[in-house]
Amino acid sequence: MSPRRIIIDTDPGQDDAVAILVALASPELEVLGLTAVAGNVPLALTARNARIVCELAGRPDIPVFAGCDRPLARALVTAEHVHGRTGLDGIALPEPGVALAEGHAVDFLVATLLREPAGTVTLVAIGPLTNIAAAFRAAPAVIPRVREIVLMGGAYFEVGNITPAAEFNIYVDPEAAAEVFASGVPLTVMPLDVTHKALTSAAWLAALRGLGTRVGTAVASWCDFFERFDRAKYGGSGAPLHDPCTVAWLLRPELFRGRHVNVVIETEGTFTTGMTVADWWRVSGRPANAHFMGGVDRDGYFALLTERLARLGAAPARPGPEDGLPPPPVGAGGGPRP
Ligand code: BDR
Ligand code: CA
Repeated sequence: MSPRRIIIDTDPGQDDAVAILVALASPELEVLGLTAVAGNVPLALTARNARIVCELAGRPDIPVFAGCDRPLARALVTAEHVHGRTGLDGIALPEPGVALAEGHAVDFLVATLLREPAGTVTLVAIGPLTNIAAAFRAAPAVIPRVREIVLMGGAYFEVGNITPAAEFNIYVDPEAAAEVFASGVPLTVMPLDVTHKALTSAAWLAALRGLGTRVGTAVASWCDFFERFDRAKYGGSGAPLHDPCTVAWLLRPELFRGRHVNVVIETEGTFTTGMTVADWWRVSGRPANAHFMGGVDRDGYFALLTERLARLGAAPARPGPEDGLPPPPVGAGGGPRP
């Protein structure tokens, strides 16, 4: 079977970075490009971080496009309190050696969706939905050509993480989210209800370190960094590894459980702006527009991530000269593409 073609729209972010790495390690997926959006940190940093992650994976050939630097109708809200000043705090990595791809991310989305056969390109959206909504506004003809959008965002039972009522990605650009959820494109949604069950563990971090690779060391260091915030906030051990749920669903949908329900986005609430109003109990009579997930096989999820991350760069665990990571294998930045 030919690989599923995806574009990852992202605001890295350590958990975004893990999602990107897992996608690049997976032969079932062909990553056509990354589109960076402002979110966890400003656009200049998300566009930088996306390239750092591709280079860590040994895939500097993946084009990274810079997209929207602010939400459609609001001032940008960022999350340095979670992700650190750079968005990828936790380990020092080299600045990207590859330039950004020429052109705006929105133009890349439009051109790719118009060029590729209709129904063949999946959008994996793991940041605010600004770029995707902007592409839909710029060229409505692309909307029916999208195969599916698999996104991390929103919450029902878990309600909110950036406000009492809203999850970060939706809260940052609720107008964009409202347009995407109303677009008619098939949506698979990984809300906090799932990702708050996808908690890292000390055993998983030890397994990553045990890989003895640049990627394993980097991912463990990133998780150590954001776990500090999440442990202080939620208590207990481990931290939600949100964004890779989207890629894991493309690879192993049987790991997740959800319902086809109606979801609308609150854009004008006094206290609830950015809330995903998910009709989990199907009481509204509104038609289903999203496959809204509620559960995940945590062990299966982390086993999948480990197995995929282990494919990237089987380097010996010697200290690297510049960045504190084990060096890449000879002849490839992160090992062969499987
Ligand atoms: C989402 O917000 C960001 O901080 C993470 O990268 C994830 O996409 C979780 O609410
Ligand atoms: Ca993200």
